[in-house]
Amino acid sequence: MKRIDIDILNTFQQDAALLTAGTKDHFNTMTIGWGGLGTLWNKPVATVYVRPSRYTYEFMENEDYFTVSFYDRTYRSDLAVLGTVSGRDGDKVAQTSLTPEFLDNSVTFKQARLTLVCRKLYRQDMDLAAMPEDVQRRAYADGDVHTAYIGEVVDVIEK
Ligand SMILES: Cc1cc2nc3c(=O)[nH]c(=O)nc-3n(C[C@H](O)[C@H](O)[C@H](O)COP(=O)(O)O)c2cc1C
Repeated sequence: MKRIDIDILNTFQQDAALLTAGTKDHFNTMTIGWGGLGTLWNKPVATVYVRPSRYTYEFMENEDYFTVSFYDRTYRSDLAVLGTVSGRDGDKVAQTSLTPEFLDNSVTFKQARLTLVCRKLYRQDMDLAAMPEDVQRRAYADGDVHTAYIGEVVDVIEK
């Protein structure tokens, strides 16, 4: 696996990323602030957390691949749009300066400085009862509990 230079403890939370799944004709993307990179079953993996209310959730459930892509701060306002507007309500990518880039099994954007192409390995609905009580109250009062997806990082595209 290619070496990547990423400040993993800060990048998701501070810079955000895009999670994208689907095909050329039918894909969706959304901003994510939570995620991880690591190792599972001897494979390099990326983990993301998606609430079932997100349109992206349907794509994550149905597709075998997803991408996690990272951007320079120049694209902050684009990530803000993709993190507040739902793809259910129209072509939100058209409201940004980003251009989709179609890969064999997935989609990213030309402006990404780093894209991790992931093959879905595992999914699990997170268990509210297993979380600290303050987290239950703060993050899940509406019952929209994240599903965790772990993907094997099968390709790394750096610009
Ligand atoms: C900075 C930021 C980080 C976010 N992180 C997540 C996340 O990790 N998981 C999640 O389910 N939603 C997250 N969201 C919310 C979704 O991006 C947002 O609800 C989006 O509009 C969903 O789009 P969709 O309905 O097209 O999937 C985040 C939003 C922002 C602005």
